[in-house]
Amino acid sequence: MATPTLERTTFRTSRLLDFVSRKELIAQTGHPEDQWPLVVLKELVDNALDACEGAGQLPTVKVTVDAEGIAVEDNGPGLPETTLDGVLDFSIRVSNREAYVSPTRGAQGNALKTLVAMPFVLSGEESGQVDVSSNGKLHRITLGVDQIRQEPTIRREEAVSSVTNGTVVRLHWPDSASSLLTDSKGRFLQIAFDYVVLNPHLTLTVDWFGEARTWKRTDLAWEKWKPNQPTSPHWYRVDHLERLIGAYLAHDADNGHVRMVRDLVAEFRGLSSTAKQKAIASVTGLGRASLTDFWDGEQLDHETIASLLEAMKLNSRPVKSADLGIIGRDHLAFRLAEQGCTPESFTYKKVEGDEDGVPWVLETAFGWLGEESDRPRRIVTGVNWSPGIVDPFRELGRGGQSLSGHLAQLRAGPKEPIIFVLHLAKPRVEYTDRGKSAVVIGGRDES
Ligand SMILES: Nc1ncnc2c1ncn2[C@@H]1O[C@H](COP(=O)(O)OP(=O)(O)OP(=O)(O)O)[C@@H](O)[C@H]1O
Ligand SMILES: [Mg+2]
Repeated sequence: MATPTLERTTFRTSRLLDFVSRKELIAQTGHPEDQWPLVVLKELVDNALDACEGAGQLPTVKVTVDAEGIAVEDNGPGLPETTLDGVLDFSIRVSNREAYVSPTRGAQGNALKTLVAMPFVLSGEESGQVDVSSNGKLHRITLGVDQIRQEPTIRREEAVSSVTNGTVVRLHWPDSASSLLTDSKGRFLQIAFDYVVLNPHLTLTVDWFGEARTWKRTDLAWEKWKPNQPTSPHWYRVDHLERLIGAYLAHDADNGHVRMVRDLVAEFRGLSSTAKQKAIASVTGLGRASLTDFWDGEQLDHETIASLLEAMKLNSRPVKSADLGIIGRDHLAFRLAEQGCTPESFTYKKVEGDEDGVPWVLETAFGWLGEESDRPRRIVTGVNWSPGIVDPFRELGRGGQSLSGHLAQLRAGPKEPIIFVLHLAKPRVEYTDRGKSAVVIGGRDES
């Protein structure tokens, strides 16, 4: 008798479940689970600020933490439904920032997706809920899992909402993980404060289980580079421009649209005039070309794109570092004094530079809380007006010296009652990880 054999079936299972696993979420956010309340705060406040600035609105943001979870409310332009559709499609990224090079806080089109998955993962993978309210509608998003197909299921219910201006995103923090939330209180409130240190135009209210505090903006007229301002060609490398052209080509194909090269060029800082477009066309010969001409069906025309970028750079002035936005001495002195730093101890320093057309500004402020203070050292670090959850400058310079190491040398060790602020504004910041937690600072030592 023949031995029975098993004829194996090749099963196909969704890989999407990987995305909504603990391990993947740690990798995607760049932070371990105990820091996830901080990740939620940072990503939602970053989005709120970018949205407000993009709409020319002075940001007024409210963060509420209560038994329901973490909610962030802004007075921005609202989150469009089509954007939400994309956020809930785990096979794509959605971002109005990712393909452009500019000093915005968020830039990867990934954060909201990780937040949608977070309550599900935290709850031991039963189901998790995130609510987005905007434009008079509440979208109740529940993420669960189809046990048979082994794939995440997303249920989206709609209801009428009283939120007609701005956006409220509420992440329902599962009860089973409540200690993670309560244990994060100290650092959570610090990061909230860091936002007001780094953003003179922000009015922020934080309500932690009924304990509320508001910081008012110190400067109504504060100027910084805003997400709705044109980006400069000097901020792009050829691969960045290729990425932008690729993104436009895909977007235009989906929308049945053909975009001319001159329209792309006109979107850049200093290149909106017809004269400039003509000047660029005369050297590149791309006067009548459309973006589709860069695509031969297989790849983008690297050389032509490189010469286009070159011409765009030659025809526009690099952006001065001061135009990125300076937090400024007055605001920092005010915030440090508010914390109890002695006015005599306050020092402020600003260093500006330019790295191959990419401007940067580094600002530092220092204050001493006085002999009597029993408060430990506080370091506020930030990149592009967004605080670091962990010190983003922990790998400063080539020698691998960290910011903390530098401070220890300056006799500002962890027990000293000081506040130290370090902020870098730069249009093109490279991070070592997807969670944007550690900055790569060139190959050279900037310490
Ligand atoms: N509060 C908000 N108001 C208006 N639009 C928003 C708001 N939050 C998010 N969006 C929109 O949703 C998009 C996706 O947000 P998400 O945080 O996932 O990505 P991102 O901010 O572009 O990049 P990153 O992953 O670095 O945060 C944003 O690009 C923006 O268009
Ligand atoms: Mg974001």
